Amino acid sequence: ESEGELVTRPPVVTIMGHVDHGKTSLLDAIRKTSVVSGEAGGITQHIGAYQVEQNGQKITFIDTPGHAAFTAMRSRGAKSTDIVILVVAADDGVMPQTIEAINHARAAGVPVIVAINKIDKPSADPTRVRTELLQHEVFVESMGGETLDVEVSAKTGQNLDRLLETILLQAEVLDLKADPNRTADGVVIEAKLDKGRGPVATVLVQRGTLRPGDIVVAGSEWGRVRALLNDRGIAMTDAAPSMPVEVLGFQGAPAAGDRFAVVENEARAREIADYRARQ
Ligand code: GTP
Ligand code: NA
Ligand code: MG
Repeated sequence: ESEGELVTRPPVVTIMGHVDHGKTSLLDAIRKTSVVSGEAGGITQHIGAYQVEQNGQKITFIDTPGHAAFTAMRSRGAKSTDIVILVVAADDGVMPQTIEAINHARAAGVPVIVAINKIDKPSADPTRVRTELLQHEVFVESMGGETLDVEVSAKTGQNLDRLLETILLQAEVLDLKADPNRTADGVVIEAKLDKGRGPVATVLVQRGTLRPGDIVVAGSEWGRVRALLNDRGIAMTDAAPSMPVEVLGFQGAPAAGDRFAVVENEARAREIADYRARQ
């Protein structure tokens, strides 16, 4: 299918880093700052991905990929991330999983923004972190390189705004675009069999616009989209590029990392799914 008009889309961001350096805390803190005060339902998150808005521009955060999920997606050829936030605790420095994350990002060709976290701690030593990164060929700006870095605290919220601004700056350089008018496709972030709702898949739309009623195939599973829910559990009439949504209506749960695509009819969906199931 030929591309129609390409439109700027939000960056998709994954957070990686060593154990206990604050990945979850950072994701939670960013989400909290973005939630409209007094909003019904508070900050209950329904799916492993969410979108925030900074000065009217959206950013998508995926919080399921630990290294294993990231690797699984990559091995299936699904590039699900535009930017990796590498979290390094300022009181601990570069550790084995920090290096692993650097290597993952490099192999995937994804730019890294370094979030030097826990800057609130008296023992924080951000300069040491920058020097240690140098040894792994991550050159931050203040060391003469081009990698953007921000000192943050997930605990106090310090500089979280700056981190979001930095993500948008990096996104601008990447010039991320997609055609919202073509047939939708993307990648499955996670999927499960829900007792009440049946198979539920969280997908990231990468091209086109997904809508209820669409017939989708993912791996060897297919279905007609019964409902699309955003990260707050609210039903959506459509999901544009870079939007993470929960899809109800699959006949069975696809696998994380599977690509999904909208097809023209149920017969075609069955045909593709059956063929793949026999592989
Ligand atoms: P894993 O998922 O287990 O790898 O850990 P994580 O990287 O998600 O770290 P997590 O967010 O669980 O934080 C680990 C610990 O560090 C927790 O006790 C947090 O409260 C603490 N922590 C996280 N960020 C900060 C921070 O900015 N400042 C301080 N002082 N503590 C923090
Ligand atoms: Na932890
Ligand atoms: Mg965590």
